[in-house]
Amino acid sequence: MEEVQRKQTLFSAVQPSGAVTIGNYIGAIRNFAALQDAYNCHYAVADLHAITVKQEPAALRRNTLELIALFIACGIDPEKCVLFVQSHVPAHCELAWVLNTITYPGELSRMTQFKDKSAKHADNVNMGLMDYPVLMVADILLYQAALVPIGADQKQHLELTRDLAIRFNNRYGSTFTVPDGYFPKGSSARIMSLADPLKKMSKSDENPNGFITMGDDRESILRKCKRAVTDSEAEVRYDPQTKPGVSNLLTIYCAFTGKSTAEAERDFAGKGYGDFKLAVGETVADALAPVQAEKARLLADKAYLNAVMKRGEEAAARIARKTLSKVYRKVGFYTGE
Ligand code: TRP
Repeated sequence: MEEVQRKQTLFSAVQPSGAVTIGNYIGAIRNFAALQDAYNCHYAVADLHAITVKQEPAALRRNTLELIALFIACGIDPEKCVLFVQSHVPAHCELAWVLNTITYPGELSRMTQFKDKSAKHADNVNMGLMDYPVLMVADILLYQAALVPIGADQKQHLELTRDLAIRFNNRYGSTFTVPDGYFPKGSSARIMSLADPLKKMSKSDENPNGFITMGDDRESILRKCKRAVTDSEAEVRYDPQTKPGVSNLLTIYCAFTGKSTAEAERDFAGKGYGDFKLAVGETVADALAPVQAEKARLLADKAYLNAVMKRGEEAAARIARKTLSKVYRKVGFYTGE
């Protein structure tokens, strides 16, 4: 008898809040494309999440389009995945509201990310910032996702997703798939700041030499690598404890060449830091060039990108609507039946 193997459903999202660093690329976006054949993938541009911190409206609009283009330039095939913009599918907000009624304020106020962001944006601690994880829970549960590729900073949010899915299922009967985190091979490489290799690489670093973005030109990439903080030895060796700067550059080099650290160390045996940094910079610039060219080509064809978003919206809305209808029935909303 023929067995129909159904692919597992996977959901992830990225916020359109400005520049995307090579850390985001290596840790998340690049893997999205690698998963699209094995899983039933849903990828969203999380604009509803982005406005929990202040955004310049014109920039948010532009960043949304750019992120869709970047996703496709990084290999995400809109024919294989459901690729869409979160705000285009109203069910995300609608489910979040229902989930709010089974969430306790304490669960949200003790979230590490809420505390960090509240401290960082002390002039704009709003309810959306606190409710952010519930919206994320809605994102995931709407699609009945079994797997959610996330970074370490999102683990608490995934725990809440599981808790709320179980809580809802217990209270109203089986409704949601309880998802697991998904950590693909290679995505665990933590890319650190070039200026301070003990800190994670972040686009909000006040020192622009600390991070490389997906849009940086060759010259900037070479300059940033050249200025990267290393140590006073002269040996290219992987040892994050005593040589965090050199180790971070090696991690970046390996992420873009697919080499092991041992192979990379061999490449630079007997070479000085100058040659090493130049080689890392060239490797990164060479790897980003085709992605940048493809992204530029896509951005010049806004009609195509709009059509992709429209199709994604329709496909996402269909699935989301089905889950939401079930939820509305379960909680007792009158449906006329
Ligand atoms: N909060 C995530 C981040 O900043 C983005 C996100 C929104 C997300 N909704 C999601 C990630 C659902 C995974 C699943 O990285």
